[in-house]
Amino acid sequence: MGNGIEGKIVVITGASSGLGEATARLLSSQGASVVLGARRADRLQSLAEALTDAGGKAIALPTDVTQPDQVQALVDAAVQAHGRIDVMINNAGLMPQALLERLQIGEWDRMIDVNIKGVLYGIAAALPYMQKQKAGHFINVSSVAGHKVGPGFAVYAATKFAVRALSEGLRQEVKPYNIRTTVISPGAVATELPDSSTDPDAAARVRKFYAEAAIPADSFARVVAFAMSQPEEVDVDEIVFRPTRQEL
Ligand SMILES: NC(=O)c1ccc[n+]([C@@H]2O[C@H](COP(=O)([O-])OP(=O)(O)OC[C@H]3O[C@@H](n4cnc5c(N)ncnc54)[C@H](OP(=O)(O)O)[C@@H]3O)[C@@H](O)[C@H]2O)c1
Repeated sequence: MGNGIEGKIVVITGASSGLGEATARLLSSQGASVVLGARRADRLQSLAEALTDAGGKAIALPTDVTQPDQVQALVDAAVQAHGRIDVMINNAGLMPQALLERLQIGEWDRMIDVNIKGVLYGIAAALPYMQKQKAGHFINVSSVAGHKVGPGFAVYAATKFAVRALSEGLRQEVKPYNIRTTVISPGAVATELPDSSTDPDAAARVRKFYAEAAIPADSFARVVAFAMSQPEEVDVDEIVFRPTRQEL
């Protein structure tokens, strides 16, 4: 494991687009074996084929992170294929924005189910393996909205504050098992995330903001690679990064 990435077994949720896809591409190019989960099976499969054609090792398994048995099956597939799991990247998420007064209760539920419960199910699936291995690394994806709240993204921010709280609790609890934990909080990165807003006012505002500010998705992948590639005794716990021009 010369570069801290080569040979590692990495499970990525939300790998069918955006940050997850970019991370799969970078880590695979640097010698990791990636196990990809998301709901869109066609996108996952063609990504896995592209990575394999380029000489990498990739498995795709359709996964809905709101279903704990499916997240368990994803992690089990990694362990069955490779004998262990080194890194669990809990990345799947969505950001439908709207003022609270719009009462988008269904979207609140979906954000809580995917952004919070999905991360918990990822922890539940991978933690027992990592405890047995006495090694492993959780990388959970929060947001600058996990540090700062604003109008239109109260619920999204609440889910991302929760990811930071869970990650910090996890960090403290897994010390006896030699497990590392990293929470990454990106600012605006160009992905399909703005498309999840159904409220027309919020969607227009988010699209404009991203069009003006967003940076490419490989910025996130490089942050993941940085955290993974530190020596085993170095636990990079939290990274916030954003476009140089972004104020929020
Ligand atoms: N882009 C940014 O500016 C930004 C900033 C801060 C934080 N983030 C966070 O980064 C993470 C990735 O988002 P992104 O920007 O890459 O957006 P994206 O391009 O929309 O990707 C979101 C990913 O999550 C997956 N996903 C959504 N619901 C899922 C479910 N129920 N089960 C499994 N997978 C599901 C999607 O796949 P399927 O639809 O195929 O299931 C997709 O692969 C999210 O947690 C987001 O909150 C992004």
